[in-house]
Amino acid sequence: MNILTSVTAPQGWHGDALAIAVFASPKSSNEQLENPAKKALELSESLKNLDVQILACTLTDLITESEFSGEMGASVSGRVGIDYAIRKVILIGLGDPAKANADIWRKAAALAVKWANKEKVKKLALSFPAYNQDVSLTAQAISEGALLAAHQDKRFKSQNANSQFLDQIEILETDPDLANPAIAKAQQIVDGVILARELVSAPANIVTPITLADTAIAIAAESDYFTAKILEQADCEALKMGAFLGVARASDIPPKFIHLIYSNGTPQRKLAIVGKGLTFDSGGLNLKTGVGSSIELMKTDMGGAAAALGAAKAIAKLQPTNVELHFIIAACENMVNGSAMRPGDILTASNGKTIEVNNTDAEGRLTLADALVYADKLGVDAVVDLATLTGACVVALGEDIAGMWSIDDDFADAIAKAAKAAGEKLWRMPLEDPYFDQLKSVVADFKNTGSRAGGAITAALFLKQFVEKTSAWAHLDVAGAVWTERESGYNNAGGTGFAVRTLVNLILN
Ligand code: BES
Ligand code: MN
Ligand code: ZN
Repeated sequence: MNILTSVTAPQGWHGDALAIAVFASPKSSNEQLENPAKKALELSESLKNLDVQILACTLTDLITESEFSGEMGASVSGRVGIDYAIRKVILIGLGDPAKANADIWRKAAALAVKWANKEKVKKLALSFPAYNQDVSLTAQAISEGALLAAHQDKRFKSQNANSQFLDQIEILETDPDLANPAIAKAQQIVDGVILARELVSAPANIVTPITLADTAIAIAAESDYFTAKILEQADCEALKMGAFLGVARASDIPPKFIHLIYSNGTPQRKLAIVGKGLTFDSGGLNLKTGVGSSIELMKTDMGGAAAALGAAKAIAKLQPTNVELHFIIAACENMVNGSAMRPGDILTASNGKTIEVNNTDAEGRLTLADALVYADKLGVDAVVDLATLTGACVVALGEDIAGMWSIDDDFADAIAKAAKAAGEKLWRMPLEDPYFDQLKSVVADFKNTGSRAGGAITAALFLKQFVEKTSAWAHLDVAGAVWTERESGYNNAGGTGFAVRTLVNLILN
Protein backbone atom coordinates (compact mmCIF):
# COMPACT_ATOMS: atom_id res chain seq x y z
CA MET A 1 0.00 0.00 0.00
CA ASN A 2 1.29 3.39 -1.06
CA ILE A 3 0.80 6.58 0.91
CA LEU A 4 0.98 9.77 -1.13
CA THR A 5 0.53 13.40 -0.25
CA SER A 6 -0.86 16.33 -2.14
CA VAL A 7 -1.82 19.95 -1.68
CA THR A 8 -5.13 19.19 -3.42
CA ALA A 9 -8.29 20.01 -1.49
CA PRO A 10 -11.10 17.41 -1.40
CA GLN A 11 -13.01 19.60 -3.87
CA GLY A 12 -10.38 18.95 -6.49
CA TRP A 13 -9.86 15.22 -5.87
CA HIS A 14 -11.51 12.33 -7.63
CA GLY A 15 -11.34 8.65 -6.82
CA ASP A 16 -13.14 5.79 -5.12
CA ALA A 17 -13.57 7.16 -1.66
CA LEU A 18 -12.87 10.04 0.67
CA ALA A 19 -12.43 9.75 4.44
CA ILE A 20 -12.96 12.95 6.40
CA ALA A 21 -11.90 13.13 10.03
CA VAL A 22 -13.68 15.73 12.12
CA PHE A 23 -13.61 16.98 15.68
CA ALA A 24 -16.81 16.83 17.67
CA SER A 25 -18.61 20.17 17.68
CA PRO A 26 -18.04 22.01 20.91
CA LYS A 27 -21.09 22.00 23.14
CA SER A 28 -22.33 25.08 24.90
CA SER A 29 -22.68 24.56 28.63
CA ASN A 30 -26.50 24.58 28.24
CA GLU A 31 -26.41 21.80 25.68
CA GLN A 32 -24.02 19.88 27.90
CA LEU A 33 -26.65 19.93 30.64
CA GLU A 34 -29.61 19.12 28.41
CA ASN A 35 -28.00 16.38 26.38
CA PRO A 36 -24.59 15.41 27.70
CA ALA A 37 -24.32 12.43 25.37
CA LYS A 38 -24.45 13.79 21.87
CA LYS A 39 -24.77 16.77 19.66
CA ALA A 40 -25.17 16.42 15.92
CA LEU A 41 -22.05 17.60 14.12
CA GLU A 42 -21.93 21.07 12.61
CA LEU A 43 -19.89 21.03 9.43
CA SER A 44 -17.21 23.64 8.90
CA GLU A 45 -17.77 26.13 6.05
CA SER A 46 -15.34 24.34 3.78
CA LEU A 47 -16.92 20.93 4.44
CA LYS A 48 -20.36 22.46 3.82
CA ASN A 49 -19.14 23.72 0.45
CA LEU A 50 -17.62 20.35 -0.37
CA ASP A 51 -20.87 18.65 0.62
CA VAL A 52 -23.02 20.87 -1.58
CA GLN A 53 -20.68 21.15 -4.55
CA ILE A 54 -19.22 17.68 -4.84
CA LEU A 55 -20.96 15.24 -2.54
CA ALA A 56 -24.64 15.81 -3.34
CA CYS A 57 -25.25 16.72 0.32
CA THR A 58 -24.42 13.17 1.40
CA LEU A 59 -22.56 14.39 4.47
CA THR A 60 -25.52 16.42 5.72
CA ASP A 61 -27.79 13.46 5.07
CA LEU A 62 -25.57 11.02 6.94
CA ILE A 63 -25.14 13.34 9.90
CA THR A 64 -28.85 13.98 10.26
CA GLU A 65 -29.89 10.38 9.75
CA SER A 66 -27.52 8.95 12.31
CA GLU A 67 -27.15 11.95 14.64
CA PHE A 68 -23.41 11.69 14.04
CA SER A 69 -21.63 13.83 16.60
CA GLY A 70 -17.96 13.40 15.75
CA GLU A 71 -17.31 11.39 18.90
CA MET A 72 -14.00 9.57 18.99
CA GLY A 73 -14.32 6.16 17.34
CA ALA A 74 -17.70 6.92 15.74
CA SER A 75 -18.17 6.96 11.99
CA VAL A 76 -20.86 7.21 9.32
CA SER A 77 -20.43 6.32 5.71
CA GLY A 78 -22.43 6.27 2.51
CA ARG A 79 -22.44 6.22 -1.25
CA VAL A 80 -22.43 9.48 -3.16
CA GLY A 81 -23.24 8.00 -6.52
CA ILE A 82 -21.72 6.67 -9.65
CA ASP A 83 -21.79 9.96 -11.53
CA TYR A 84 -19.75 11.82 -8.96
CA ALA A 85 -16.02 12.47 -8.74
CA ILE A 86 -16.00 10.84 -5.30
CA ARG A 87 -18.20 7.76 -5.02
CA LYS A 88 -18.14 6.97 -1.32
CA VAL A 89 -17.50 8.97 1.82
CA ILE A 90 -16.89 8.24 5.46
CA LEU A 91 -16.92 10.74 8.29
CA ILE A 92 -14.73 9.73 11.21
CA GLY A 93 -15.01 11.29 14.65
CA LEU A 94 -11.88 12.55 16.41
CA GLY A 95 -13.78 13.57 19.55
CA ASP A 96 -13.06 16.55 21.75
CA PRO A 97 -10.19 18.65 20.31
CA ALA A 98 -9.03 19.38 23.85
CA LYS A 99 -8.33 15.66 24.34
CA ALA A 100 -6.51 15.19 21.05
CA ASN A 101 -3.49 12.87 20.93
CA ALA A 102 -1.63 11.14 18.13
CA ASP A 103 -3.22 7.79 18.87
CA ILE A 104 -6.64 9.18 17.95
CA TRP A 105 -5.20 9.96 14.49
CA ARG A 106 -3.72 6.45 14.24
CA LYS A 107 -7.06 4.90 15.12
CA ALA A 108 -9.02 7.16 12.78
CA ALA A 109 -6.70 6.24 9.90
CA ALA A 110 -7.05 2.56 10.83
CA LEU A 111 -10.82 2.89 10.75
CA ALA A 112 -10.64 4.47 7.30
CA VAL A 113 -8.43 1.64 6.00
CA LYS A 114 -10.67 -1.11 7.40
CA TRP A 115 -13.75 0.57 5.95
CA ALA A 116 -12.04 1.02 2.59
CA ASN A 117 -11.11 -2.65 2.42
CA LYS A 118 -14.64 -3.71 3.32
CA GLU A 119 -15.98 -1.41 0.62
CA LYS A 120 -13.44 -2.70 -1.90
CA VAL A 121 -11.95 0.74 -2.34
CA LYS A 122 -8.66 0.93 -4.23
CA LYS A 123 -7.88 4.63 -3.97
CA LEU A 124 -8.70 6.44 -0.78
CA ALA A 125 -8.17 10.11 0.03
CA LEU A 126 -7.88 11.38 3.59
CA SER A 127 -8.88 14.80 4.75
CA PHE A 128 -7.67 15.20 8.33
CA PRO A 129 -7.17 18.28 10.49
CA ALA A 130 -3.55 18.73 11.60
CA TYR A 131 -2.75 17.07 14.92
CA ASN A 132 -1.17 19.68 17.20
CA GLN A 133 -1.00 21.96 14.09
CA ASP A 134 1.96 19.78 13.11
CA VAL A 135 1.98 18.44 9.55
CA SER A 136 4.81 15.93 10.21
CA LEU A 137 3.25 14.45 13.33
CA THR A 138 -0.10 14.22 11.56
CA ALA A 139 1.33 12.42 8.55
CA GLN A 140 3.35 10.06 10.75
CA ALA A 141 0.40 9.15 12.96
CA ILE A 142 -1.96 8.67 10.01
CA SER A 143 0.58 6.50 8.20
CA GLU A 144 1.34 4.37 11.26
CA GLY A 145 -2.35 3.76 11.88
CA ALA A 146 -3.07 2.99 8.23
CA LEU A 147 -0.08 0.68 7.69
CA LEU A 148 -0.61 -1.19 10.95
CA ALA A 149 -4.30 -1.69 10.23
CA ALA A 150 -3.53 -2.90 6.71
CA HIS A 151 -1.06 -5.54 7.89
CA GLN A 152 -2.53 -9.00 7.43
CA ASP A 153 -0.66 -12.10 8.44
CA LYS A 154 -1.66 -14.96 6.15
CA ARG A 155 1.62 -16.88 6.40
CA PHE A 156 0.02 -19.97 7.87
CA LYS A 157 -3.23 -20.05 5.89
CA SER A 158 -3.35 -22.35 2.89
CA GLN A 159 -6.03 -20.13 1.34
CA ASN A 160 -4.06 -16.96 1.54
CA ALA A 161 -6.02 -14.79 -0.84
CA ASN A 162 -5.31 -11.22 0.12
CA SER A 163 -8.32 -9.27 1.30
CA GLN A 164 -6.33 -6.06 0.98
CA PHE A 165 -8.05 -4.08 -1.77
CA LEU A 166 -6.76 -0.69 -0.87
CA ASP A 167 -3.56 0.09 -2.71
CA GLN A 168 -3.27 3.84 -2.45
CA ILE A 169 -3.91 6.43 0.20
CA GLU A 170 -3.53 10.12 -0.55
CA ILE A 171 -3.32 12.58 2.32
CA LEU A 172 -4.94 15.76 1.01
CA GLU A 173 -4.16 19.39 1.72
CA THR A 174 -0.79 18.74 3.21
CA ASP A 175 2.73 19.99 2.58
CA PRO A 176 4.57 17.13 0.84
CA ASP A 177 7.98 18.49 1.88
CA LEU A 178 7.06 17.97 5.51
CA ALA A 179 4.70 15.03 5.20
CA ASN A 180 6.72 12.77 2.89
CA PRO A 181 9.69 12.28 5.25
CA ALA A 182 7.23 11.62 8.09
CA ILE A 183 5.52 8.93 6.01
CA ALA A 184 8.89 7.31 5.28
CA LYS A 185 9.69 7.33 9.00
CA ALA A 186 6.31 5.78 9.81
CA GLN A 187 6.96 3.03 7.26
CA GLN A 188 10.32 2.23 8.86
CA ILE A 189 8.83 2.08 12.33
CA VAL A 190 5.89 -0.02 11.15
CA ASP A 191 8.29 -2.47 9.48
CA GLY A 192 9.76 -3.01 12.95
CA VAL A 193 6.32 -3.42 14.53
CA ILE A 194 5.33 -5.94 11.85
CA LEU A 195 8.50 -7.94 12.43
CA ALA A 196 7.62 -8.11 16.13
CA ARG A 197 4.01 -9.05 15.39
CA GLU A 198 5.04 -11.83 13.04
CA LEU A 199 7.66 -13.22 15.41
CA VAL A 200 5.05 -13.38 18.17
CA SER A 201 2.28 -14.82 15.98
CA ALA A 202 4.45 -17.56 14.50
CA PRO A 203 4.23 -20.80 16.47
CA ALA A 204 7.10 -22.27 18.45
CA ASN A 205 7.83 -24.86 15.76
CA ILE A 206 8.58 -22.01 13.38
CA VAL A 207 10.22 -19.41 15.62
CA THR A 208 12.92 -21.09 17.71
CA PRO A 209 15.98 -19.62 19.45
CA ILE A 210 17.80 -20.27 16.17
CA THR A 211 15.24 -18.16 14.28
CA LEU A 212 15.66 -15.30 16.74
CA ALA A 213 19.43 -15.45 16.31
CA ASP A 214 19.07 -15.55 12.51
CA THR A 215 16.71 -12.57 12.67
CA ALA A 216 19.31 -10.60 14.61
CA ILE A 217 21.98 -11.57 12.07
CA ALA A 218 19.70 -10.47 9.21
CA ILE A 219 19.10 -7.08 10.86
CA ALA A 220 22.83 -6.58 11.33
CA ALA A 221 23.41 -7.47 7.67
CA GLU A 222 21.11 -4.62 6.62
CA SER A 223 23.15 -1.90 8.29
CA ASP A 224 26.80 -0.92 8.57
CA TYR A 225 26.17 0.38 12.08
CA PHE A 226 25.02 -3.00 13.43
CA THR A 227 27.04 -6.01 14.55
CA ALA A 228 25.47 -9.26 15.71
CA LYS A 229 27.20 -11.43 18.28
CA ILE A 230 25.67 -14.83 18.95
CA LEU A 231 26.93 -16.68 22.02
CA GLU A 232 26.49 -20.44 21.75
CA GLN A 233 25.86 -22.74 24.68
CA ALA A 234 29.60 -23.27 25.25
CA ASP A 235 30.18 -19.51 25.32
CA CYS A 236 27.41 -19.14 27.89
CA GLU A 237 28.94 -21.94 29.95
CA ALA A 238 32.27 -20.10 29.89
CA LEU A 239 30.46 -17.02 31.19
CA LYS A 240 28.87 -19.19 33.91
CA MET A 241 25.31 -18.36 32.89
CA GLY A 242 23.90 -21.11 35.09
CA ALA A 243 20.43 -19.58 35.43
CA PHE A 244 19.86 -19.18 31.68
CA LEU A 245 21.35 -22.60 30.90
CA GLY A 246 19.28 -24.22 33.64
CA VAL A 247 16.14 -23.18 31.80
CA ALA A 248 17.47 -24.14 28.37
CA ARG A 249 18.62 -27.60 29.51
CA ALA A 250 15.52 -29.66 28.67
CA SER A 251 15.08 -28.44 25.10
CA ASP A 252 16.33 -30.25 22.00
CA ILE A 253 16.90 -26.87 20.39
CA PRO A 254 20.14 -25.13 21.39
CA PRO A 255 19.95 -21.88 23.34
CA LYS A 256 21.25 -18.72 21.67
CA PHE A 257 22.44 -15.68 23.57
CA ILE A 258 21.94 -12.78 21.17
CA HIS A 259 23.80 -9.48 21.40
CA LEU A 260 23.10 -6.94 18.66
CA ILE A 261 25.20 -3.79 18.85
CA TYR A 262 24.36 -0.50 17.14
CA SER A 263 26.94 2.23 17.15
CA ASN A 264 26.81 5.36 15.00
CA GLY A 265 29.00 8.39 15.64
CA THR A 266 30.32 9.39 19.04
CA PRO A 267 27.89 7.99 21.56
CA GLN A 268 26.25 10.62 23.77
CA ARG A 269 23.94 7.97 25.17
CA LYS A 270 24.37 4.25 25.72
CA LEU A 271 21.33 2.09 26.21
CA ALA A 272 20.82 -1.65 26.58
CA ILE A 273 17.50 -3.28 25.72
CA VAL A 274 16.99 -6.77 27.10
CA GLY A 275 14.12 -8.91 25.84
CA LYS A 276 12.77 -12.13 27.34
CA GLY A 277 13.12 -14.71 24.58
CA LEU A 278 11.32 -17.90 25.58
CA THR A 279 10.22 -19.26 22.22
CA PHE A 280 8.03 -21.65 24.17
CA ASP A 281 7.23 -21.88 27.85
CA SER A 282 5.74 -25.23 28.81
CA GLY A 283 6.32 -24.40 32.47
CA GLY A 284 8.95 -27.12 32.73
CA LEU A 285 8.26 -29.78 35.38
CA ASN A 286 5.85 -27.29 36.94
CA LEU A 287 3.98 -27.90 33.70
CA LYS A 288 1.30 -25.39 32.74
CA THR A 289 -1.72 -27.60 33.39
CA GLY A 290 -3.91 -25.28 35.43
CA VAL A 291 -7.11 -23.82 34.00
CA GLY A 292 -6.20 -20.52 32.36
CA SER A 293 -2.47 -21.20 32.35
CA SER A 294 -2.74 -20.99 28.53
CA ILE A 295 0.11 -23.30 27.59
CA GLU A 296 -1.08 -23.08 23.97
CA LEU A 297 -0.31 -19.35 23.95
CA MET A 298 3.22 -19.71 25.24
CA LYS A 299 4.69 -19.19 21.77
CA THR A 300 4.16 -15.52 22.72
CA ASP A 301 6.68 -15.78 25.56
CA MET A 302 9.30 -14.15 23.34
CA GLY A 303 7.25 -10.95 23.02
CA GLY A 304 9.95 -8.95 24.82
CA ALA A 305 12.61 -10.29 22.43
CA ALA A 306 10.32 -9.54 19.49
CA ALA A 307 9.96 -5.93 20.66
CA ALA A 308 13.74 -5.61 20.95
CA LEU A 309 14.30 -7.05 17.46
CA GLY A 310 11.47 -4.96 16.00
CA ALA A 311 13.02 -1.81 17.46
CA ALA A 312 16.43 -2.86 16.15
CA LYS A 313 15.01 -3.35 12.66
CA ALA A 314 13.47 0.14 12.75
CA ILE A 315 16.72 1.62 14.05
CA ALA A 316 18.65 -0.01 11.21
CA LYS A 317 16.55 2.11 8.85
CA LEU A 318 16.22 5.27 10.95
CA GLN A 319 19.98 5.40 11.61
CA PRO A 320 20.04 7.74 14.61
CA THR A 321 23.46 9.28 15.27
CA ASN A 322 25.61 9.50 18.39
CA VAL A 323 23.99 6.62 20.20
CA GLU A 324 25.22 3.19 21.22
CA LEU A 325 22.58 0.52 21.59
CA HIS A 326 22.71 -3.05 22.79
CA PHE A 327 19.89 -5.47 22.09
CA ILE A 328 20.24 -8.54 24.27
CA ILE A 329 18.21 -11.74 24.21
CA ALA A 330 18.85 -14.96 26.11
CA ALA A 331 16.77 -17.15 23.80
CA CYS A 332 15.70 -20.68 24.69
CA GLU A 333 12.71 -22.94 25.33
CA ASN A 334 11.38 -24.08 28.69
CA MET A 335 10.70 -27.76 28.08
CA VAL A 336 10.63 -31.10 29.87
CA ASN A 337 12.98 -34.09 29.54
CA GLY A 338 15.18 -36.23 31.75
CA SER A 339 17.73 -33.49 32.25
CA ALA A 340 15.16 -30.81 33.00
CA MET A 341 15.82 -28.65 36.02
CA ARG A 342 13.83 -29.96 38.96
CA PRO A 343 11.78 -27.92 41.37
CA GLY A 344 14.16 -27.35 44.26
CA ASP A 345 17.32 -27.35 42.13
CA ILE A 346 19.83 -24.63 42.88
CA LEU A 347 21.31 -22.66 39.97
CA THR A 348 24.20 -20.22 40.06
CA ALA A 349 23.83 -17.12 37.92
CA SER A 350 26.76 -15.39 36.20
CA ASN A 351 27.12 -12.87 39.02
CA GLY A 352 27.64 -15.75 41.47
CA LYS A 353 24.21 -15.51 43.11
CA THR A 354 22.56 -18.85 43.91
CA ILE A 355 18.89 -19.38 43.16
CA GLU A 356 16.62 -22.09 44.51
CA VAL A 357 14.19 -22.87 41.69
CA ASN A 358 11.06 -23.52 43.71
CA ASN A 359 9.00 -23.20 40.52
CA THR A 360 10.35 -24.09 37.07
CA ASP A 361 7.58 -21.99 35.50
CA ALA A 362 9.17 -18.80 36.83
CA GLU A 363 11.80 -19.31 34.12
CA GLY A 364 11.78 -15.92 32.44
CA ARG A 365 13.44 -14.25 35.40
CA LEU A 366 16.15 -16.94 35.37
CA THR A 367 17.03 -16.25 31.74
CA LEU A 368 16.84 -12.50 32.35
CA ALA A 369 19.11 -12.79 35.38
CA ASP A 370 22.07 -13.73 33.19
CA ALA A 371 21.03 -11.33 30.42
CA LEU A 372 20.89 -8.46 32.93
CA VAL A 373 24.27 -9.36 34.42
CA TYR A 374 25.69 -9.29 30.89
CA ALA A 375 24.02 -5.91 30.13
CA ASP A 376 25.13 -4.50 33.46
CA LYS A 377 28.78 -5.10 32.52
CA LEU A 378 28.57 -3.07 29.30
CA GLY A 379 28.93 0.29 31.02
CA VAL A 380 25.72 1.70 29.55
CA ASP A 381 23.77 4.63 31.01
CA ALA A 382 20.55 2.69 31.20
CA VAL A 383 19.11 -0.80 30.85
CA VAL A 384 15.49 -1.55 30.06
CA ASP A 385 14.14 -5.07 29.97
CA LEU A 386 10.90 -6.20 28.39
CA ALA A 387 9.36 -9.48 29.40
CA THR A 388 6.14 -11.45 29.24
CA LEU A 389 7.01 -12.17 32.83
CA THR A 390 3.92 -12.77 34.95
CA GLY A 391 0.26 -13.62 34.77
CA ALA A 392 0.03 -11.53 37.94
CA CYS A 393 0.75 -8.38 35.92
CA VAL A 394 -2.15 -9.24 33.59
CA VAL A 395 -4.39 -9.71 36.64
CA ALA A 396 -3.30 -6.31 37.97
CA LEU A 397 -3.45 -4.21 34.80
CA GLY A 398 -5.41 -6.19 32.22
CA GLU A 399 -4.27 -7.02 28.71
CA ASP A 400 -3.75 -3.54 27.31
CA ILE A 401 -1.48 -2.02 29.93
CA ALA A 402 2.09 -3.03 30.67
CA GLY A 403 3.61 -2.70 34.12
CA MET A 404 6.76 -0.63 34.58
CA TRP A 405 9.21 -0.84 37.46
CA SER A 406 12.25 1.39 37.71
CA ILE A 407 15.00 2.32 40.10
CA ASP A 408 15.38 5.71 38.40
CA ASP A 409 12.57 8.26 38.22
CA ASP A 410 14.00 10.18 35.25
CA PHE A 411 14.39 7.00 33.20
CA ALA A 412 10.87 5.93 34.16
CA ASP A 413 9.57 9.34 33.06
CA ALA A 414 11.44 9.12 29.76
CA ILE A 415 9.93 5.69 29.07
CA ALA A 416 6.46 6.89 30.08
CA LYS A 417 6.77 9.84 27.71
CA ALA A 418 7.97 7.60 24.86
CA ALA A 419 5.07 5.22 25.48
CA LYS A 420 2.52 8.01 25.57
CA ALA A 421 3.66 9.38 22.21
CA ALA A 422 3.50 5.83 20.84
CA GLY A 423 -0.03 5.27 22.11
CA GLU A 424 1.19 2.30 24.17
CA LYS A 425 -0.07 2.09 27.72
CA LEU A 426 2.24 1.68 30.70
CA TRP A 427 1.59 2.02 34.39
CA ARG A 428 4.37 2.46 36.90
CA MET A 429 4.35 -0.11 39.68
CA PRO A 430 6.20 -0.14 43.00
CA LEU A 431 9.51 -1.88 43.70
CA GLU A 432 8.36 -2.71 47.19
CA ASP A 433 11.59 -3.95 48.77
CA PRO A 434 10.01 -5.61 51.84
CA TYR A 435 8.19 -8.02 49.50
CA PHE A 436 11.57 -9.51 48.67
CA ASP A 437 11.18 -11.42 51.96
CA GLN A 438 8.88 -13.74 50.02
CA LEU A 439 11.92 -14.95 48.09
CA LYS A 440 13.96 -15.93 51.17
CA SER A 441 15.48 -19.37 50.75
CA VAL A 442 16.65 -21.76 53.46
CA VAL A 443 19.44 -23.15 51.30
CA ALA A 444 20.31 -20.63 48.55
CA ASP A 445 20.68 -16.84 48.30
CA PHE A 446 17.02 -16.59 47.30
CA LYS A 447 14.20 -18.46 45.57
CA ASN A 448 12.82 -17.60 42.14
CA THR A 449 9.17 -17.50 43.20
CA GLY A 450 7.15 -15.90 45.97
CA SER A 451 3.47 -16.17 46.78
CA ARG A 452 0.65 -15.31 44.38
CA ALA A 453 0.10 -12.00 46.13
CA GLY A 454 2.15 -9.27 44.46
CA GLY A 455 3.63 -11.78 42.01
CA ALA A 456 4.55 -9.17 39.40
CA ILE A 457 6.34 -7.11 42.04
CA THR A 458 8.41 -9.98 43.47
CA ALA A 459 9.37 -10.88 39.88
CA ALA A 460 10.66 -7.32 39.40
CA LEU A 461 12.51 -7.46 42.74
CA PHE A 462 14.11 -10.73 41.65
CA LEU A 463 15.41 -9.06 38.46
CA LYS A 464 16.75 -6.13 40.46
CA GLN A 465 19.26 -8.50 42.14
CA PHE A 466 21.09 -8.74 38.83
CA VAL A 467 21.55 -5.03 38.15
CA GLU A 468 24.41 -3.86 40.28
CA LYS A 469 26.32 -1.13 38.40
CA THR A 470 23.84 0.55 36.07
CA SER A 471 22.08 3.42 37.82
CA ALA A 472 19.06 3.53 35.52
CA TRP A 473 17.20 0.27 35.06
CA ALA A 474 13.58 -0.29 34.17
CA HIS A 475 11.57 -3.46 33.76
CA LEU A 476 8.48 -3.67 31.59
CA ASP A 477 6.12 -6.61 32.14
CA VAL A 478 4.38 -6.94 28.77
CA ALA A 479 2.66 -10.30 29.41
CA GLY A 480 -0.80 -9.02 28.49
CA ALA A 481 -0.01 -6.59 25.73
CA VAL A 482 2.00 -8.55 23.16
CA TRP A 483 -0.96 -10.61 21.96
CA THR A 484 -4.63 -9.97 21.31
CA GLU A 485 -7.44 -12.34 20.36
CA ARG A 486 -9.59 -9.64 18.74
CA GLU A 487 -8.86 -6.76 16.41
CA SER A 488 -9.23 -3.25 17.74
CA GLY A 489 -8.01 0.11 16.46
CA TYR A 490 -4.89 -0.50 14.37
CA ASN A 491 -4.20 -3.86 16.00
CA ASN A 492 -5.38 -6.97 14.26
CA ALA A 493 -5.86 -10.28 16.08
CA GLY A 494 -2.50 -11.90 16.91
CA GLY A 495 0.81 -10.36 17.88
CA THR A 496 0.54 -6.62 18.53
CA GLY A 497 4.19 -5.60 18.25
CA PHE A 498 3.75 -3.89 21.59
CA ALA A 499 6.65 -1.70 22.80
CA VAL A 500 8.46 -1.38 19.46
CA ARG A 501 7.19 2.17 18.99
CA THR A 502 7.91 3.04 22.63
CA LEU A 503 11.49 1.79 22.27
CA VAL A 504 12.00 3.69 19.02
CA ASN A 505 10.74 6.90 20.65
CA LEU A 506 12.96 6.30 23.67
CA ILE A 507 15.99 5.87 21.42
CA LEU A 508 15.24 8.84 19.15
CA ASN A 509 14.48 11.34 21.92
N1 BES B 1 5.46 -16.69 30.56
C1 BES B 1 4.80 -16.74 31.81
C2 BES B 1 3.97 -15.50 32.11
C3 BES B 1 2.77 -15.29 31.24
C4 BES B 1 1.53 -15.65 31.70
C5 BES B 1 2.87 -14.65 30.02
C6 BES B 1 0.43 -15.40 30.92
C7 BES B 1 1.78 -14.43 29.23
C8 BES B 1 0.54 -14.79 29.69
C9 BES B 1 5.84 -16.87 32.93
O1 BES B 1 6.98 -17.57 32.60
C10 BES B 1 5.19 -17.63 34.03
O2 BES B 1 4.91 -18.78 33.84
N2 BES B 1 4.97 -16.95 35.14
C11 BES B 1 4.36 -17.57 36.25
C12 BES B 1 5.15 -17.19 37.47
C13 BES B 1 4.79 -17.96 38.69
C14 BES B 1 5.20 -19.40 38.54
C15 BES B 1 5.47 -17.32 39.86
C16 BES B 1 2.94 -17.04 36.33
O3 BES B 1 2.71 -15.87 36.05
O4 BES B 1 2.07 -17.83 36.64
MN1 MN C 1 6.72 -19.69 32.91
ZN1 ZN D 1 7.52 -17.56 30.59
